[in-house]
Parts: sequence; structure tokens; C-alpha cells
Amino acid sequence: MTKLENPWKQNPWFESVAVAQERARKRLPQPVYGALVAGSERGQSVADNQAAFAELGWAPHVVGQHAKREIATTVFGHDLALPVIISPTGVQAVHPDGEVAVARAAAARGTIMGLSNFASKSVEEVTATGATTFFQMYWTGDRDTMVQRMTRAHAAGVQGLIATLDWSFSIGRDWGSPEIPEKVDLRTMVRMAPKVATKGRWMWQFGKQFRATGRLPDLTAPNLAPPGGDAPTFFGAYYEWMTTPPPTWDDVAWMRETWDQISGTPFVLKGVCRIDDALRAVDAGVDGISVSNHGGNNLDGTPAAIRVLKPIADRVGDQVDVVMDGGVRRGSDVVKALALGARAVLIGRAYLWGLAANGQAGVENVLDVLSSGIDSALRGLALPSVSELRPEHLIVPDGFHVEVGAPDRARP
Ligand SMILES: Cc1cc2nc3c(=O)[nH]c(=O)nc-3n(C[C@H](O)[C@H](O)[C@H](O)COP(=O)(O)O)c2cc1C
Repeated sequence: MTKLENPWKQNPWFESVAVAQERARKRLPQPVYGALVAGSERGQSVADNQAAFAELGWAPHVVGQHAKREIATTVFGHDLALPVIISPTGVQAVHPDGEVAVARAAAARGTIMGLSNFASKSVEEVTATGATTFFQMYWTGDRDTMVQRMTRAHAAGVQGLIATLDWSFSIGRDWGSPEIPEKVDLRTMVRMAPKVATKGRWMWQFGKQFRATGRLPDLTAPNLAPPGGDAPTFFGAYYEWMTTPPPTWDDVAWMRETWDQISGTPFVLKGVCRIDDALRAVDAGVDGISVSNHGGNNLDGTPAAIRVLKPIADRVGDQVDVVMDGGVRRGSDVVKALALGARAVLIGRAYLWGLAANGQAGVENVLDVLSSGIDSALRGLALPSVSELRPEHLIVPDGFHVEVGAPDRARP
């Protein structure tokens, strides 16, 4: 007897990031999905990150396309199969395999894995996947503690450091911040049960982990643990960060210099959205910058990263590798960013939705969706390679580019 296929079984493959997002919305408990999707305060910057990409247009050629297109590139000294890098995010509670699944997908598709210092998996577990891993650090703790964390990351085999410094601890989100329990014990599970009870597949995945390891998902930050000590809770880690005095440019130079001595691998400053800051970052000796507003999670009202990209890339793109992140949802967005001067983009929510939708395969699916989108945009533009992309390949509306902090306009 031939086995009948269940016609209602969902094909796990998805054709766009929007479909992955919809699956994530259905699958994840509301507080978890809400934390991924939203931005700070009224959500203006998170919305603008995507809206701005949609303002940029094309005028494709009708004939003369290339039969083969090259989408590989080199960024921060690494050859990447596509100009898309995994941006560091704390992916607690999205999937039991968390950053390990994301790293495996990054390795399988030939790109860099950015690992957050707030991640739910240890840097050792993540580098063990074989992924080229860049470790991300906030400015948190004292210098000795930071040296110890950098030394540990280097010993684990990471190949670059991302310093994310654009965070202003803005509170008061119109969408209502999700409840993050201090720890996941039985009492918490009973209290939060109504929010997760309808999310069968998500519960089943975490239940599988519990049956296999006897461990509940813990909301800790293992990469911030003191040597030989326990990982702090998410709140403990956040408190340390909040109470650390903000860094100066001398601190950035110190961090860059220290990382160089420990590891000798690239140092990237993430969160730049002004020309004067980009120039100071170059003075501090960074190898790269990510033009970013933290996915709309920092100071709300900051323009979309794609709007401030070109003025910054024009000023420092010949001295350091400029990448950008914020709002990338399709291959054509990647191509637009490259045309305006980015060497590559970083993605955040797009892969988190892929992870929620289908684990490692879902993240690979997202990277494949982006690859094929990059390829078809190149075909339409009749270009043989991403390296040929220039601003003239886009239709850019008047006033699109936002130039902030040009030195001649800077206040003394
Ligand atoms: C849920 C979530 C957690 C994040 N956590 C971090 C983090 O720990 N470190 C960091 O540098 N950036 C973090 N980010 C910002 C991302 O690295 C990235 O800048 C942003 O997601 C890019 O915008 P996109 O989501 O539209 O792609 C986070 C973003 C989200 C959505």
C-alpha cells in the first residue's frame, strides 16, 4: 500500500522572510515574539529601517544580463559566500539549540556568526560548530573583567570582536516590554503557562531538551560568567551593564588595542550613525564599523541605518570595512546597501524568525532566500558581481541620504 502524504502537513521550507516571520508569530509565545519584533519607545526607528529600503527603486535592463553572477565577497579579512553576516542577538527562548543552530547554519552557508555576550550558549559551544565566529561585547564590567572575557573568547577560537556601544537604556515601550523571568523554575512555569500553553510545537521542542538533558531553558548569560563561577542571570548581567560608566573614545582605543594584543584579529565598532563618530572610530584604530541603530532598539527617532550609510561610507569606506544592519529582509535590500557603500550587511530579526520557524534549517533557508534575491537583483541590473554595485544602480528619491555629524557642521 502506498503511504498517503498528509495534505495539511506544512512544508517547512519558506520562500520569503515574511513567511518565516508569520510562522514565528504563530509558533512563539507572545512575549517571546513581541521581544523580537518590537523596537524602543514608539517604534519609529524599527519601522523606518524597513520603510527606507522600500523607498529605493530599480530600473532593470531588459537584455544584456550575465549568465553567471558572483555574490561572494571579502569582509574583515574573511571570504564569505554571500555578503550577509549573522548579527549578534541574545536568542534566549526562541529555540532550544539557540546560537548553536544559528552558528551551524552560518558555517553551512559560508558566512560569519556574530555571537552576543548576552547569548544563551557559551562561546565554546558555538566555536565548536566550526563557524567563523565574531564575539560581541557591550561595555560592561570593569577593564579586568573585560580582559578576562576577551581572553576567554580568544581561547575559544573566535576570529573577531564586535564592540556594540549604541545603547541608551531607554525604557517605556509603547508595545509593552515582555516579562523576562529571573529564572525558569516550576513556579514561573505555572505562572506563565497561559502565555505558552497554546504554543504546542515550541513547548514540545523545549520539552524534548528537558527530556534529553534534564535541564530547563535557563535565562542566563554564560559568556559573562567569572572564571570557574556561575553564569549570571539575564537581569544580573543587565544590572552590571547599566551600572558600568559609559565608555569614552579612549576606552574604545583601549579595547581595540587590548583585543589586538590578545588576539590580533579584526575589531568592529557596531552602532555608528554619524560621520564624526565614524571618523573617531577610524582614529581609535578599528578595522570596521557597522552603521546601525541597533535594529531600532536604541534611541527611537534615529533615522534608518540605510539613510545614513552613504554619507558615512563616502568618508571612511576607503579606510575601514563599512557594513550596515537594520531592516534587511530580502536579497534586494542587501544589494541596495552594497550599492550605497556597504561591503556586507548584518541581519538580526530575519534569522531569528528562521530559527523560530525551523531551527538550523530555517536559518539556512533565510540565508538562501537572501542569496537568491541578491542574484536576481544582479541579473536585473545586468551586473556580473556584487563588487560592481554603485549608487547609480538605484533610483534614490531626493532627500533620502541623511548626513549627520559632518565635521564642518559639528559643534565645537
Ligand atoms: C531580539 C534582539 C536582540 C538583540 N541583541 C543584541 C545583542 O545582544 N548585541 C548586539 O550587538 N545587538 C543586538 N541586537 C541588534 C542586532 O544585532 C541588529 O543590530 C539588529 O537586529 C538589526 O536589525 P534587524 O533586526 O532589522 O536586522 C538585537 C536585536 C534583536 C531584535
